[in-house]
This record gives sequence, C-alpha cells and structure tokens, in this order.
Amino acid sequence: MHLGPLPLESNLFLSPLAGYTNLPFRLVVRELGGVGLCTTDLVNARSLIEQREKAFKLIETRPADSPLAVQLFGSVPAEMREAALMVEARGAASVDINMGCPVKKVCKVGGGSAMMTELDKTTALVRSMVEAVKIPVTAKMRLGWDDDNLTAPDLARALEDAGVAAIFVHGRTREQGFGGTVNLAGIRKVVAAVKTIPVIGNGDIVTPQAAKKMLDETGCAGVSIGRGAFYDPWIFKRTLEYLKNCSRRREDPLGTSGEKTNGGLPPEPAFDERVRVMRRHLDLMIEVFGGELGCRMFRKVAPWYAKRFGPCHEFNKQVVHLGTREQFDDILENYSRWRRQFLDDQGELQPRFQPAPMVASFMRDPASTQREHIPVPKGPVEVW
Ligand SMILES: Cc1cc2nc3c(=O)[nH]c(=O)nc-3n(C[C@H](O)[C@H](O)[C@H](O)COP(=O)(O)O)c2cc1C
Repeated sequence: MHLGPLPLESNLFLSPLAGYTNLPFRLVVRELGGVGLCTTDLVNARSLIEQREKAFKLIETRPADSPLAVQLFGSVPAEMREAALMVEARGAASVDINMGCPVKKVCKVGGGSAMMTELDKTTALVRSMVEAVKIPVTAKMRLGWDDDNLTAPDLARALEDAGVAAIFVHGRTREQGFGGTVNLAGIRKVVAAVKTIPVIGNGDIVTPQAAKKMLDETGCAGVSIGRGAFYDPWIFKRTLEYLKNCSRRREDPLGTSGEKTNGGLPPEPAFDERVRVMRRHLDLMIEVFGGELGCRMFRKVAPWYAKRFGPCHEFNKQVVHLGTREQFDDILENYSRWRRQFLDDQGELQPRFQPAPMVASFMRDPASTQREHIPVPKGPVEVW
C-alpha cells in the first residue's frame, strides 16, 4: 500500500494515542513487526513553532522509528503550514491533521473535531499545507459531530480535492465519545465518497478478526489500531499473518498447501513473551525519558500489559509505586511467584483464570460473556 508516493510495508497503522504513542512504544511495536506506519501523539502546531521542549519531545524519533507520521493540531493556516514544514525538515514521512479530537481545549480554538463542521475553512487550511510540503498530508476524522451531522463523507471528498493522500476515519461521532458501536456502514460511506485516495478505518480493533471484518465490510484500504495495540503490541504481526492466511485459504480452499490450525489465527503471545516485551518497553522508556520520569510514566503503561496476564491485582498494586528498573525486576519476581497458584501442571493459566477474549463493539454477541467494553485510559484521556 502507498500513502501518495510513500510505500508502506503493510496496510496496518498505529493510531495516535496522546500520552502513549511516544518513541518507546512505537519502537516496541515496530520491533514486533507488522505495522506499516506509526503516528505520534497529537502535537500543537503553535507549540512547535514556539520551540517548546514538550512539543519536540513528542516528535523525537530515530532511524528505527520509520516511517513516522507526525500528527498536528491547530486551526491557523500559517501555523499549521509552518509546523508541517518543520516536521518535514526533521524527517517525518508524512504529516497527519487532527480533525477528530473531541477535547474542548482543542475544539475551542477551532481544531480537532470542530474542523469537521467548517468545510470551506478546513479545506483551505489543508490545501495550503499540501502546497507547502513534499511529504504526504493526511487527515484523521470521526464520522461527524453527531448522528444528525455525519459530515465525514463530504469532508473526505473535499479534502481529496485539496490534495490529501489518505483519510483516517474513526467510525464514531464526536457525540459518541468512545461509547456505543463503531459504525462500519458509516466508514463504508467515507470509502465510497472518495475516488482515488485510500481510506483507513479505525475503531475498536482488538483482534485480527476485527481488522478483517472492518476491511471486508467497509472496503477500506487499511486499518488503524489504537487501544488494541496497547493491550497487545503483537496485534499488527498477528493481523498481517491472519490476513495472509485468509487470502491463502481463499486461493486454496481445500488446504492442500498445508492448512494452519485455528482458522489461520496465530496464537496469542505467552506470558513469558509478554513479560519480555514489557521489560523492553520499560528499558526504552528509561532510555528516552530518563530513569525517574521513565519509571513514573511506566506506572500507567504496565497495567495494560497486565490486563492479559490473568489475575493481576498483586502486580498492579505494586507497579503504581515503580521508581527504578531494579524495583521492577523485584515486582515481576514477586508477581510470577504469586501467579503460580493459578497455573496448571503445564505452567499454563487454568481456564477459569484466563482473561475473557477481547471482542470489538461491532462483533459483539450479546449472549456471550466476552469483554464488553475496551477501557479508555485515565488522565487527560477521559475526554478523548
Ligand atoms: C488515550 C487516547 C489518546 C488519544 N489521542 C489521540 C490523538 O492524539 N490524536 C487523535 O487523532 N486521536 C487520538 N485518540 C483517538 C485514537 O487515535 C483512535 O481514533 C480511537 O482510540 C479509536 O481507535 P481504537 O479503538 O483502536 O483505540 C486517542 C484515543 C485515546 C483512547
């Protein structure tokens, strides 16, 4: 797949998650494989122009973190243009414009989802960015402000005319926040509205099967994964493999070339692999943010890994006090010892302690006991 002239290794994208999609997390995801393009947290265009350290930290990168999209927000065309030129000069592969953020602070200044309501103004702003830089410019939006204003198809068409290389669309309205179901039919309308550029679907993809369903039912060219990657940074690799296995099966329905088990679905990572990657994530946090801040920031990251450990309250109770790498080793050692009581003779979690399977809102079976809702992280995030 391509974003304008930019070739990508897969059609799977890491969505921006403010506070989470920093350099260490992006490197973790890339090391595990399968992702085509990662995006930074949203960055305030004006803060970049004002040379604020915080904004530069958000776009910090290194060669292994490539290709990288930087997401900008703002509503002043000259500022957005200048910020786009700055990130281009620093080696970003593409620049994404945030049009989906429902946070008041962002909408109040005409950025985020407020941009979806002002077609002419938004198109002019985007056109001026496209004209300023050589790298692809993309836009990320929700389906609209609310159910009565599903503006995404019209906006996508107008932005295609203005020269964007792709549209990312979260299949919910601003009013929906993170509740309710991701609207696949709504995403399909955006796909139908544009003529030549790829549309990337987004929302609630927590399993490879959910990615396939969104691709199949919306006709989108790729999918972007946010919270699902936080539970499961392996999701890109597993999804890519699953999609390949599914298309192989279509070409060879009798499975004569050696059918994979479990419908072509690669297994979930084992506990030891989860721990290995979680350790690597912490090491990178310390490398990038320093020991004290890295450990403090990791206090909110580690519990996401733990959500797939089985019983984990002993781990979470201790990790909120994390201060050093050595302490983390102790926490893990204590936790692994405590966790043994839930294992069988083979060292696997007994079935009754296994976490419920993840399931996307648009694949939910109301009669099942599957996990109902993907939590939204705390902090500034509760307003996303
Ligand atoms: C904690 C958090 C932070 C987010 N930050 C951003 C952001 O900076 N820019 C953006 O466009 N969307 C942001 N989003 C929205 C996600 O990119 C994505 O569209 C949404 O979470 C739905 O996808 P998911 O179900 O795969 O997480 C954020 C969402 C969450 C939960």
